[in-house]
Amino acid sequence: MPTKKQTIGWIGAGRMGYEMAGRLAKDGADILVWNRTRDKATPLEKYGAKVADQIAELAARDIVFCMVATYKDVKEVLTKLLSGKPKPKMVIECSSISLEGSAELREMLNKHGIQYLAAPVSGNAKVIKAGRLTFVCSGPKKAYEEAKPYLDAMGTGSSYVGEGELARIVKICHNVFLGVVIQSLCEITVLAQKAGVPRHAFLDFMNKSVMGSTFSKYKTPALVNLDFKVTFTPQLLRKDLDLGLDAGRHFEVPMPLASATRDLIQSMIGQGWTEQDFATLILQQAEASGLKLKPENVEVGDGLS
Ligand SMILES: NC(=O)c1ccc[n+]([C@@H]2O[C@H](COP(=O)([O-])OP(=O)(O)OC[C@H]3O[C@@H](n4cnc5c(N)ncnc54)[C@H](OP(=O)(O)O)[C@@H]3O)[C@@H](O)[C@H]2O)c1
Repeated sequence: MPTKKQTIGWIGAGRMGYEMAGRLAKDGADILVWNRTRDKATPLEKYGAKVADQIAELAARDIVFCMVATYKDVKEVLTKLLSGKPKPKMVIECSSISLEGSAELREMLNKHGIQYLAAPVSGNAKVIKAGRLTFVCSGPKKAYEEAKPYLDAMGTGSSYVGEGELARIVKICHNVFLGVVIQSLCEITVLAQKAGVPRHAFLDFMNKSVMGSTFSKYKTPALVNLDFKVTFTPQLLRKDLDLGLDAGRHFEVPMPLASATRDLIQSMIGQGWTEQDFATLILQQAEASGLKLKPENVEVGDGLS
């Protein structure tokens, strides 16, 4: 029976990593966190986490989680982690990365006799706070069983999809869908508004309909009141669309909607909209439609809090 007695190392206290590590700390885990910018990790001490000065301090932990940005960053931090003598028993990698990167990582970890679980996630920082993060996992079933109690402590659970890097393609598909859905939601919201329907009224109906979703609900405040405080950057979304298109090319699957959406995200980045949430796509859509959007200043729920 898996227990929660392992010592945990945590790499990355960005928007996602901070909240995930925070949940583990609040759950009572013995957790040591390292972040490149140390200051971002220090507030985790209030939940009982320890903060490391050097990444090497995490090498003697039983399980090390990694939540950074791209595969290049994952490789960089894990190479540093493994450069000393002590080695963790297991690495659980949660960033959204390619199948190829994940396979390279598996080879590198297997050489050191370290178990490896690919465990990307669905949900932003607010979703984690609401206890609704989910994981998709692949790798040895035994590693998954050992990791499960910790994954459960961070959200509503995990799906095991098989051996190797299968979790990566599931996450890539998930985020291609995220990109296409947000662009579509922006298009129809602008269309309804240009025809005379206030955004809050339109989205109220959409959210109550069978087409409404957790996602359409939690993006509603941003689309109505134009609050673009970043939850997920346009660059990270572009990375995921690029991963989707690469996978489409590899498996010979046409992805016309993903392709168009990728270019729309690219034009948003090209215009310099990089430091705002990806829901800024609605401003681009409005500009292309000759509309100047204003916040509606209507109180709307996000379905999470
Ligand atoms: N935000 C979301 O809604 C969401 C949802 C699901 C999955 N994801 C995925 O989760 C991952 C993290 O996303 P995020 O939104 O948390 O990003 P973020 O806020 O930009 O955080 C990135 C983290 O990675 C660290 N990092 C980046 N490059 C590094 C390097 N070369 N060496 C060491 N540390 C490095 C950063 O350290 P510093 O603090 O020092 O910069 C920070 O801790 C990404 O793969 C993303 O695609 C995000």
